[in-house]
Amino acid sequence: MMEAPELPFPLYARGKVREMFDLGEDLLMVATDRISAFDVVLRSGIPGKGEVLNRLSLFWFERTRRTFPNHLSGKKVGDFLDDPELVALLEPRSMVVRKAEPLRFEAIVRGYLAGSAWAEYRERGTVGGIPLPPGLRESEKLPEPLFTPTTKGEEGEHDLAMTHEQLREQVGEDLAERAREACLQIYLDAREYAAERGIIIADTKMEFGLLDGDLVLVDELLTPDSSRFWPSAGYSPGSPQPSLDKQFVRDWLRGSGWKEGDGPPSLPQDVVTRTKEIYRDIYRRLTGANLDG
Ligand SMILES: Nc1ncnc2c1ncn2[C@@H]1O[C@H](COP(=O)(O)OP(=O)(O)OP(=O)(O)O)[C@@H](O)[C@H]1O
Ligand SMILES: [Mg+2]
Repeated sequence: MMEAPELPFPLYARGKVREMFDLGEDLLMVATDRISAFDVVLRSGIPGKGEVLNRLSLFWFERTRRTFPNHLSGKKVGDFLDDPELVALLEPRSMVVRKAEPLRFEAIVRGYLAGSAWAEYRERGTVGGIPLPPGLRESEKLPEPLFTPTTKGEEGEHDLAMTHEQLREQVGEDLAERAREACLQIYLDAREYAAERGIIIADTKMEFGLLDGDLVLVDELLTPDSSRFWPSAGYSPGSPQPSLDKQFVRDWLRGSGWKEGDGPPSLPQDVVTRTKEIYRDIYRRLTGANLDG
């Protein structure tokens, strides 16, 4: 499903991956099979991806809700739609969430040295501006997880690192501190859970919003679009790790010669199929459940 079907609700917002419909107090958040990389939506979709993201987010929201509140409303798609076919189509890939005021930053937490953090460390010995001990290798576990927020760019724009001062200026000292604490706590709990299932969560991104003045988690949580997942078996710092997430697509794009500015790329069928398998595999490893079909 590359686009949400026609629905009898006003479109509230259209993200790169999700479409949000206005239900009044709530939003119907539909995860499509679209995939983005380097801030561009690809022309190819990954079949079943929206369902994986939705179910895995629900799984984590459920597990973490005692630690921190989230945007789930407790209502179901069927509470708003009568057509049983439409409900069956949307149910697996949608959640009904409380309409929050999204805070315009990405709450990133890093436990391992990968991606842009590795690039920054190699150049300057810092991650998110925070100095780290010398001699760390690519993919190495950090002495402590780091909270490294970024701005949330519009489509085509890049996210830029934010200092703690910039975050404080944007959302206020109290919210900035609560988001940081929540983000680190959720990451540490999830990392412990995943480790028991043979998965390293190298880093992840969360989003927060305001609901009746209170901070809540919104959007998605600990999915292969928002996180780096590495199998613990065979983990060896000093190089990039095989990754059960979107990294496979980023690597393929880099290797294909596609450059930013070239326009949205398509993926060959075998890359689509492999990506689909990766998303299903990480879902199964983390939740212990299979997706049907
Ligand atoms: N409970 C909520 N209330 C209001 N907005 C939300 C809520 N949960 C998520 N959102 C917003 O809905 C959008 C989800 O769409 P998606 O994840 O596809 O967007 P994106 O491409 O990652 O981000 P962008 O907003 O930059 O397009 C995001 O903008 C997110 O901030
Ligand atoms: Mg998003």
